[in-house]
Amino acid sequence: MFRARILGAAAGGGLPQWNCGCDNCRAARRGEIPSLTQSSLAVSGDGVGWAILNASPDIRAQLAATPELHPTGLREVPIRSVLLTNGDIDHVAGLLTLREQQPFTLFATPEILAVIAANPIFDALAPGKVSRSPLPLDVEREIAPGLTAELFAVPGKVPLYMEGAEAEVRTDLLGENTVGAHLRAGGEDVFYIPGCARVTPELAARIDGAAALFFDGTLWRDDEMVRTGVGTKTGKRMGHISMSGPEGSIAALAPLAIGRRVFVHMNNTNPVLRPGSAERSEAERQGWTIGRDGMEITP
Ligand code: MLT
Ligand code: MN
Ligand code: ZN
Repeated sequence: MFRARILGAAAGGGLPQWNCGCDNCRAARRGEIPSLTQSSLAVSGDGVGWAILNASPDIRAQLAATPELHPTGLREVPIRSVLLTNGDIDHVAGLLTLREQQPFTLFATPEILAVIAANPIFDALAPGKVSRSPLPLDVEREIAPGLTAELFAVPGKVPLYMEGAEAEVRTDLLGENTVGAHLRAGGEDVFYIPGCARVTPELAARIDGAAALFFDGTLWRDDEMVRTGVGTKTGKRMGHISMSGPEGSIAALAPLAIGRRVFVHMNNTNPVLRPGSAERSEAERQGWTIGRDGMEITP
């Protein structure tokens, strides 16, 4: 039996973001729309052992809010592994919270593990307790009892803090930097792709027929952060496809047979985060669910 629970549905920064006074962040502070923590998904193949996909800076509160992930003994937890889909801060900073001599397996591509290895602060995860397990692309591996993951390249880029001073940052690179996860349990195929710059024909073919898809919902419009005045970067520059438009994810994935379509990793500027907005209604009309913290999706 496949279980998937959204621990955090927001992109980096969360909703509200600490330094943001945009309409959505102010509405969230007033309690008018739900606040959201940062990007993470918990998955299980047997309802007992769990894998955490991406360790968000909010993981402490996320675990506290999720009884299934609470300790089962003095120093026993149902968390078997953590799997990373890129090296971005919103996906790795939570590893620092998971210190305290607790055994689990850390899965990521060799390249993402190299980013972690290059930063000695992550040695707080005691070597000998936390085993770092390289998961090369296109290899299926058990990450929790009865649950396997296979990583595959999607268009993306290196972590923001690794970009350097180069004027041009490639966001179309297909490699180990940004990956999706093909999860299998109980005969169900589920895909988790929280960061993706473009839907290629290969990607569409891969996810066609899935029971459920958790997909990059960072922005509604490519120029949303520019229009709302919070930044200068487009979604394309950040390595994130937008939801709307002829090149957006809703249109690109529309022809595919997918059981549940769920947006995750949503930036705080995204209008779909406002219940009743025209954009949210449009996404829902097209068959998409707008992810929320604590939401359980049973494929
Ligand atoms: C992203 O998803 O583009 C990154 O999380 C950005 C960041 O690290 O702030
Ligand atoms: Mn992110
Ligand atoms: Zn904001």
